[in-house]
Amino acid sequence: MAEKKELTMEELVAFTKRRGFIFPSSEIYGGFAAVYDYGTYGVELAKNIRALWWREMVQKNPDIVGIDSSIFMSPKVWEASGHVSGFSDPLAECKKCQTRSRVDHLLEEVGVFADEKMSDDEINELLIQNAGKVVCPKCGQKDFSSAKSFNLLVQSNLGDFTGKMDTPVYLRGETCQGIYINFKNVLDTARVKVPFGIAQIGKAFRNEITARQFIFRKREFEQMEMQYFVHPDNAADLYESWREKRWNFYVNILEIKEENLQWHEHENLVFYAKAAWDIEYKFPFGFKELEGIHNRGDYDLSTHAKHSGTKLEYRNPQTNEVFVPHVVETSVGVDRTFLAVLADSYTVETFEKEDNNGEKSEDVRTVLKLPKKLAPVKVAVFPLMKNKSELVTKAKEVFAELSESYMCEFDDNGNVGKRYRRQDEIGTPYCITIDFETLEDGTVTVRDRDTMHQQRIAIDDLKDYLRKELVK
Ligand code: GAP
Repeated sequence: MAEKKELTMEELVAFTKRRGFIFPSSEIYGGFAAVYDYGTYGVELAKNIRALWWREMVQKNPDIVGIDSSIFMSPKVWEASGHVSGFSDPLAECKKCQTRSRVDHLLEEVGVFADEKMSDDEINELLIQNAGKVVCPKCGQKDFSSAKSFNLLVQSNLGDFTGKMDTPVYLRGETCQGIYINFKNVLDTARVKVPFGIAQIGKAFRNEITARQFIFRKREFEQMEMQYFVHPDNAADLYESWREKRWNFYVNILEIKEENLQWHEHENLVFYAKAAWDIEYKFPFGFKELEGIHNRGDYDLSTHAKHSGTKLEYRNPQTNEVFVPHVVETSVGVDRTFLAVLADSYTVETFEKEDNNGEKSEDVRTVLKLPKKLAPVKVAVFPLMKNKSELVTKAKEVFAELSESYMCEFDDNGNVGKRYRRQDEIGTPYCITIDFETLEDGTVTVRDRDTMHQQRIAIDDLKDYLRKELVK
């Protein structure tokens, strides 16, 4: 089987729409920039990604516990965290078409990399130095206004019944703030001792300016974050061990091809950070951040302690030493992981097929070679023909039994070859066909997505077979 290389974003976007993975939000109203909906298969894939992350981070680590904090928090949280004053992107306006673009992105296009913490003046300096090279992505013109920072926090009018809100309420810009403000609650209620972690999966919202790159950069997205609270003396070592664990998650659990992953070290750190590395994935538009792993020092707990007046510290029960734990953070988006596993498993291959007379010819198929544990549908069940009621009844029985344990799909449309192609495209590892032999001897055809080999298995043995195969 030969594989076609170099997947383009256009191809991937069209595929996700056609096969019901991702739809642009509010499409019947013309769409809504940088907001997307997950379709029938997308919702299953996203659910499986979350479940694997939770299993690896919370279920398998006795020292990590989960929470689910609210999207709304006191506005004081965002003032204390520094988001109200400092969470912004530098924008410049094209003087011809008035399109606003992120200056760091415009500079990136000409090979100049601005640091995310640069002031507006420093960014402007870079923009001036590269005048004549930097072009407007919309109209191609090269004359821009000065860069100005725009805050990324999304405001709401929650509880503003008078219409005279003094302090706006924000939708959370990152989930980890909900973890810091619950540090004391968890310490008081869960049986945890430093070092320990708190994990959370949930929505975050940002007024992202650049509405391109599909679900890589959304305005409403989902994060999977874990904050590991450690003694300051152990922070550097534990940071390294988390870097390794997170790399292994992508390679061993999500089975992402290692050559499509790389490390990127942040050179200019924010003042409180001790270290920051990203795991980058080779998306169709190049290597870009998938996950950030940060050694954040005691900044988060100290700043919330200072602003709230609540002590956020830890007393070692053996030594009685009292200290403010340092934080090692691992932070990744569900959506970016989704895009990475999709790009990694999307395969177009040619293969040799044989017709009923033994004639061989070449054919092409698109197949999502997802790890079985991520596949949206695990098993598809087909009656060979839809107008033979004995076959349909038997197929429905098999479906009813297997769907107790797995996401299954029942399909009786068109010929079986077409049904296989459709299941290949959504990454279904096994297709089961109920035919006339089934009615005689109680066996079915089980067809493997990757090898396309078919074998006959007794219905009574199906559950055992799938249990063994689907954990691989
Ligand atoms: N608490 C740290 C934090 O939020 P971040 O680098 O801003 O750090 C962490 O975000 C991760 O969240 C990113 O690596 C990415 O996977 C995901 N993410 C951030 N902004 C996103 C967006 N606009 N759309 C989709 N995913 C996003």
